[in-house]
Amino acid sequence: LAPLTSANSVWDDSTLNKILQRGELRIGIETGYMPFEMRDKNGDIIGFDVDIARHMARAMGVELKLINTAWDGIIPALLTDKFDLVMGGMTITPERNLKVNFCDPYMVIGQTVLLRKGLADTVTSYRDLNNKQYTIVSKLGTTGEIAARRYLSRATILTFESESEAALEVRNGRADAFVFDFPYNAIFIAENPEGLVHLDQPFTHEPLGWAVRKGDPDFLNWLNNYLAQIRGDGTYDALYKRWFES
Ligand code: ARG
Repeated sequence: LAPLTSANSVWDDSTLNKILQRGELRIGIETGYMPFEMRDKNGDIIGFDVDIARHMARAMGVELKLINTAWDGIIPALLTDKFDLVMGGMTITPERNLKVNFCDPYMVIGQTVLLRKGLADTVTSYRDLNNKQYTIVSKLGTTGEIAARRYLSRATILTFESESEAALEVRNGRADAFVFDFPYNAIFIAENPEGLVHLDQPFTHEPLGWAVRKGDPDFLNWLNNYLAQIRGDGTYDALYKRWFES
């Protein structure tokens, strides 16, 4: 008879098993992305993803560790095992999906435009910005940057390390438009109503999902069933209301 250990070796290597052995779930995030993950006045990390992360760790019976990582390095950090999954409002794109696995989408969003108010009469759709007279800003390595380069290729496109640096360029009149995820833009303009207009019709289709390393079906299975559970039992809706509807 083959020893049981060899039959168990695949399971022993799963991320899920390592989390249970370690007693700690490590989640990669990047703060600054309202309302998913950001810092409050005391510097504590809060948000929709953070509440889900806490609840997830409790469901596994382990401690939670949030690891803040620059967005353009977050997939490489996942692949080199700096954390167990990425939970950062990451859009499931076919290109990223070549490198990582994604859980089922936990939300669907799209790109919108925060426009310099002075342009409100001339620019009524993102399409009007595809002109060399305009300067478009977004965040480095995001689907905002990808959408700007794809749909607004005639414009000058500048990228910034953080969402807020980019959006402030428009508010301060140094750029014409900020292309980024709808939820972020809706909150940014509510907090900075001066000088901005939100063209709030999303022009891309972007399912958001948690990213994990490839070849780890045990972990993917746990995460997808966990997501289905919190969607069905009201946990997801309660958190959604707290962060997106108040
Ligand atoms: N959804 C966009 C993307 O996947 C932006 C996500 C930004 N997330 C963050 N934690 N800063 O590229």
